[in-house]
Amino acid sequence: MRFDTVIRHGTVVTASDTFVSDVGIKDGRIAALAAELDDADEIIDARGLFVLPGGIDSHVHLDQPSGDGIVMADDFDSGTRSAAIGGNSTVLAFCMQEKGQSLREALKVYHAKADGQCHVDVSFHLVITDPTADVLGQELPALVEDGYTSLKIFMTYEGLRLRDDEILATLDAARRTGALVMVHCENEDAIRYLIGRHEEEGKLAAKFHATTRPIAAEREATHRALSLAEIVDVPVVIVHVSNREAMEEIRHARRRGQKIAGETCPQYLMLTADDLDQEALEGAKYVCSPPPRDKASQDACWEGLEQGVFDLFSSDHCPFRFDDPEGKLNEKGKRHFRWIPNGIPGVATRLPILFSEGVMKGRIDINQFVALTSTNHAKLYGLYPRKGTISIGADADIALWDPERRVTLTNQMLQHGADYTPYEGLEIRGWPVRLLLRGKTIVSDSALTPRADRQGAYLARGRSSMVG
Ligand code: URP
Ligand code: ZN
Ligand code: ZN
Repeated sequence: MRFDTVIRHGTVVTASDTFVSDVGIKDGRIAALAAELDDADEIIDARGLFVLPGGIDSHVHLDQPSGDGIVMADDFDSGTRSAAIGGNSTVLAFCMQEKGQSLREALKVYHAKADGQCHVDVSFHLVITDPTADVLGQELPALVEDGYTSLKIFMTYEGLRLRDDEILATLDAARRTGALVMVHCENEDAIRYLIGRHEEEGKLAAKFHATTRPIAAEREATHRALSLAEIVDVPVVIVHVSNREAMEEIRHARRRGQKIAGETCPQYLMLTADDLDQEALEGAKYVCSPPPRDKASQDACWEGLEQGVFDLFSSDHCPFRFDDPEGKLNEKGKRHFRWIPNGIPGVATRLPILFSEGVMKGRIDINQFVALTSTNHAKLYGLYPRKGTISIGADADIALWDPERRVTLTNQMLQHGADYTPYEGLEIRGWPVRLLLRGKTIVSDSALTPRADRQGAYLARGRSSMVG
């Protein structure tokens, strides 16, 4: 067979295997894995490089409404460009239902934002904020059949959070339709109470974002979400776990026989609450929920990655500009942590951070890296085996990693819309030097190629491997 492209002499890595092989690509798919393939229009020399499935980031916020006068720093163009720079070939973004809006209406809005704008492949999780009988009984079953097979619910944030009876109804609808539910676990009532106490005491600086969202509020909500899922008998994903106590809830639930997936993020490995406690409003840069905790929590999250408590390592990319009246330092946000928009940028730094801090420092092996950053996302969110692995017939979404490349992170190189990265100056060992999307090179040496030109496709998805 004559191939369109052959990647030669690289070390191919999947979630289970590592082997030296050439990769033959035809019509955007992997067509051969063998030695000495050379009949091709284009030959890419990958000697000394790792040949990995492109990253899949299943937790990315782009172009979401974020409150009065606040604008998210990335739309689907800039957010997916930054994702590609960081070695990702697919992102799963959120389609946020407004109160009173149908899910179909919400999808229309998000497709209009995304279609034709994306540099990598994209799909949507639904966010259900208004679980009416019609939404759960009529819309959701039809949308799951149409390939919208996952949804997120919130236990916190005014206007977004669901109460327990609404959570139960949503979980039950997911059980009946085969949708996978992601849960943001923090106890909103406890947080409200603590914000009130902080206000009485005049504690309004950014650092108090962390003390109003303590570990106990996350642990309690995690326990409650898992208990409600047990009662309904449905699998769930506990997203952005920040500490040991919430992580132990996942372990306990699994011991009870529940099907649970767990997710953590770079901010819980690299940042602590001390980052919020800085002069000149600098702490606002690090405001996200749940907040970064302490060194012991970082160690716990590493343990969870090493031991398989966490299946997913995602960015929770939720970018706002810092020095901007539409961002972190909006007029009210300058005076009170409650009005600092929650979230940090990270879609481009997720993979390099885990490669450098995890693989190169010997905490996880490279097969775990692939599982945590690509394969498990594809399996859990209904994209496998088309995405998330290197096998015959899969999409040729391939990242070439140079383990010898040393990079000092700067905001500018990440090509996102935010005016900062929380990881400025971090020394990285190992970098994705080339990215192919369905066989076409879209990033080379940290620059988008002309072929990148918004070639990302929308992906309808199948059911989760956890749903069966
Ligand atoms: O602070 C965060 N994580 N913002 C994004 C929204 C969410 O809860 O995932
Ligand atoms: Zn969340
Ligand atoms: Zn999020």
